[in-house]
Amino acid sequence: MTTVTDTLHIDGEEIPFTPGQTIMDAALMAGQYIPHLCHYPGLPPRGNCRLCVVEANNRSVAACTTPATPGLQIRSDTPELNEIRKAITQMLFVEGNHICPSCEKTGNCKLQAMAYHLGMLDDHFPQFYQRREIDASHPEILLDRSRCILCDLCVRASRDIDQKNVFAIAGRGTDARLIVNSPNGKLADTPIAITDLAARICPVGAILIKEQGYQVPIGQRIYDQNTIRETGLMETIAKKSDDEV
Ligand code: SF4
Ligand code: FES
Repeated sequence: MTTVTDTLHIDGEEIPFTPGQTIMDAALMAGQYIPHLCHYPGLPPRGNCRLCVVEANNRSVAACTTPATPGLQIRSDTPELNEIRKAITQMLFVEGNHICPSCEKTGNCKLQAMAYHLGMLDDHFPQFYQRREIDASHPEILLDRSRCILCDLCVRASRDIDQKNVFAIAGRGTDARLIVNSPNGKLADTPIAITDLAARICPVGAILIKEQGYQVPIGQRIYDQNTIRETGLMETIAKKSDDEV
């Protein structure tokens, strides 16, 4: 049984939490959406994307890594914070090579859905046009680093859930890149399988299952049916139900 011990406030609403929960955990569990890209229920937080930054007692903190504490007064859904989130999303678009209309992930992509959620109408910043390596070596899984936003989700999923440690992030700043932990650095040389969470968790079209392209038609995809807000809340409820089984 879950024991609620205290509360905090987000945008004026009282939110209960249990010891050990982060602000993000408490918010999503109570049906309060805080925008996020690198948070995933059940995986340890990393605080990579900064989409979830909120003001807690007038201090800017990442909701996904900051513990919930009694009496916190949090502001999240404000025009100022949403403008910052939009600028971060625009930066993520220009850092990679995102070709939404022809990407297999379109309609299932969290970055694209976040852009819609935040009312992003253009890239604003100049494109980087980075050259990034594609790894098509695996018979069933494609890794296209062009679209990688370095959220670290595949790294954590492979290490903490699949117990395979297939991925890592190397380098810093604009040199940061996703690497594959295998003798030749290729996916084919790893034990990754399409049933692994790491093969399915990518929020963008950087890790794709081969030979499944457009099996789900445009118009019937995740974010054609539900907003990223609704989907984010549903992911949390689904994880809670799994934990209770
Ligand atoms: Fe995140 Fe996908 Fe890049 Fe992995 S490949 S770090 S899941 S964007
Ligand atoms: Fe908190 Fe990405 S969700 S930093």
